[in-house]
Order: sequence, then structure tokens, then C-alpha cells
Amino acid sequence: MNKVQKLKKLHKKWLQECTCELRKNAIQGVPGDGSANAQIVFIGEAPGSKEDKVGRPFVGSAGKFLAEMLESVKMKRDDVYITNIVKYRPPKNRDPTSKEIADCTQWLEDEIKLIDPTLIVFLGRYAMNHFFPKEKISEAHGVLLTENHFGRVRNFLPLYHPAASLYNGSIRDVMKDDFKMIPKILGELK
Ligand code: URA
Repeated sequence: MNKVQKLKKLHKKWLQECTCELRKNAIQGVPGDGSANAQIVFIGEAPGSKEDKVGRPFVGSAGKFLAEMLESVKMKRDDVYITNIVKYRPPKNRDPTSKEIADCTQWLEDEIKLIDPTLIVFLGRYAMNHFFPKEKISEAHGVLLTENHFGRVRNFLPLYHPAASLYNGSIRDVMKDDFKMIPKILGELK
């Protein structure tokens, strides 16, 4: 079985077995999406209303901005892998609780271990703080972090959440600059 088939099987299993309470109110689970052979995995927070309807992560306005940012560094959505720490939409888009995050954690861990990317990019503080609870996004954005997670030492780049950039011009500018680091870091890590 190749990586693409294994990833499909993994999502099928977790869509049936995930015990997260959020699934009671969500329309459907939103598994990660993109290339099973990606060098970069982006981790967001949780699906919103559009993602809940479509069943794919980052397909709403934050996703549009993310696609723009990818284009700015000459990458396409299909080249990378995009997922969330929580796979079901929290009611009224409230923040996920630590229990909900914990219930979806093994699913995320299985995705990362299978794809085994060179770089993991956190989109926002929720994703970052799950693995680096002491970091502040205002200080850690754009700084490469290296730590043992998901079975081995890995590289992480925290960024602001794309939704924050939609309503704040200065965060948008910071995000554009931080994004430019991605190809540079990948080149250095290879
Ligand atoms: N925000 C997220 O964190 N994830 C999505 O999938 C959409 C919006």
C-alpha cells in the first residue's frame, strides 16, 4: 500500500472512531487534505462553517488568504498538506476545549507520522500552544522551533492564523514576511 492509500485508510478509520464530542453537532468530520508526500504540513485550529459543509480544511476566507500566501512563495495547495488540531467544527466557531483537542490528537499524530514532513507550520496559537504551551504567538511567529514531537525531533514554524490577517493589516504584513521564510528554511533543512 502506498502513502496515498495509507492516508485514505487512516482518515476512514478515524472518521469512524474519533470520540470527539464535537461530532454530535458538526455536519461531518474534516480530515487533513493535500499531498501525502508533502514536505510541509500546515496545522490550523478547527473547521469553520464552510469547512463543515464542504468537508475540506481552509476552504473559506482564511483558506483564500492561505492560498494567496502559498502562491506568493510559488507553492500550490496540492504541493502541501493542510490539517487542523480539531477535526470537527466547534458550535458557533467557539475555541476548542482542551478535551476536544486531546480527543483529536491521535488522529493528528497519525497523519504527521505517516507524511513525515520536513517542516510543520502552525497556523495560529491554538496549534502552536498544543505542542509548545509556553510560547506566545506574538514572540514565536517566524521563529524556527526544533523539538521532539510525533516520534522524533522535528522542525516547527509558528505563524499567525490567516483569519487574524484578514482583519488586521499589520498582521497581514507580518504574515507575508514570515511566509517568505518557508522556502528558505526548507532549502536549509534539506
Ligand atoms: N480555520 C482553521 O483553523 N481551520 C480551518 O480549516 C478553517 C479555518
